[in-house]
Amino acid sequence: MLEEKTIEWVSEGDFGYCLTVDQTLIPYEYKKVKINSTEGVYNSIKTMIVRGAPAIGIMGAHGCSIAAYELKNEDNFIEKLYKKFDYINSSRPTAVNLSWAIKSQIEVVEKNKDKTPLIIYDELVKNAVKLENEDIIINKKIGDFGASLVPKGAGILTHCNAGALATVGYGTALGVIRSAFKNDKTIKVFADETRPRGQGAKITTYELLRDKIPTTLITDGMCSYFMKKGMIDFVVTGADRIASNGDSANKIGTSTIAIAARYYNIPFYIAAPKSTIDMSIKSGDDIVIELRDENEVKIVNGKPICPMEVNVINPSFDVTDNGLIKGIITEYGVFRPDELKDVFS
Ligand code: MRU
Repeated sequence: MLEEKTIEWVSEGDFGYCLTVDQTLIPYEYKKVKINSTEGVYNSIKTMIVRGAPAIGIMGAHGCSIAAYELKNEDNFIEKLYKKFDYINSSRPTAVNLSWAIKSQIEVVEKNKDKTPLIIYDELVKNAVKLENEDIIINKKIGDFGASLVPKGAGILTHCNAGALATVGYGTALGVIRSAFKNDKTIKVFADETRPRGQGAKITTYELLRDKIPTTLITDGMCSYFMKKGMIDFVVTGADRIASNGDSANKIGTSTIAIAARYYNIPFYIAAPKSTIDMSIKSGDDIVIELRDENEVKIVNGKPICPMEVNVINPSFDVTDNGLIKGIITEYGVFRPDELKDVFS
């Protein structure tokens, strides 16, 4: 298993930096990069060096600390600091974990407003490191709650990457799979390729093979083939933002899988921490879906795979309707979508 943290704060003298795995290089290379500027934080999220909702959140939290250090000698410190927070928050729109982490950092600033910039910086670092440490603990809880739902010897389908690399460690959907595999060595995982960026092919298979969990890579269009053959008994994915009614945004293609799973009567679960639940929105209609560059679809390994003049629309996420979700696996337990309001309000 990826035992070490895939994203972490490193203190160096009176400053520090964020050390994170460059996910754009997986599976070819496992390399850590040092992020030590607000610009670097923004770019690492935008270009998906750091990706996955919880990992983006933690990078955002560390970004807030870095911003405070950069501004430590400036007049109008708080005003300028909040501008940098907004800038970091604008790097990607869909995963709520980013604004959740920044909100947590705003609370720290508000509590310490009358202190010096360096004291505020220290407090921001402390809070971000706390969020970083809590992430792994939360994921292990999600894993254990989820594992209890997995039938013996199950074929488990997952989409995109909700693993150790998408979090600080262990993963959410892959946390469920990791915990299930600890209990039962006969489970088998089907990992969707996850076009256009291939997070399933590149990152999920990389993580699962490292853990020696039996894994079969399939393309996105194949899921109903394997469902019909009776080879998939359980589906679990992560989420980027869950509305208060349980509608869940996750990587594009997730809702197609949930619809097929419903047709074949296969339970479909979302695994996500409380920080992914956005109680301020009523339904999935309120979730902003990121539209990414059309070249992600048109170009593979540097070469066009279609006439370059063809029209492309590249939404990065879709919303799975609450009615298709059997349960949302959180660190507090497993809840039906209609229970979220009572539990998390
Ligand atoms: O565009 P990405 O790779 O950041 O999308 C990630 C996903 O959709 C994950 O499933 C989600 O963030 C959960 S990660 C624990």
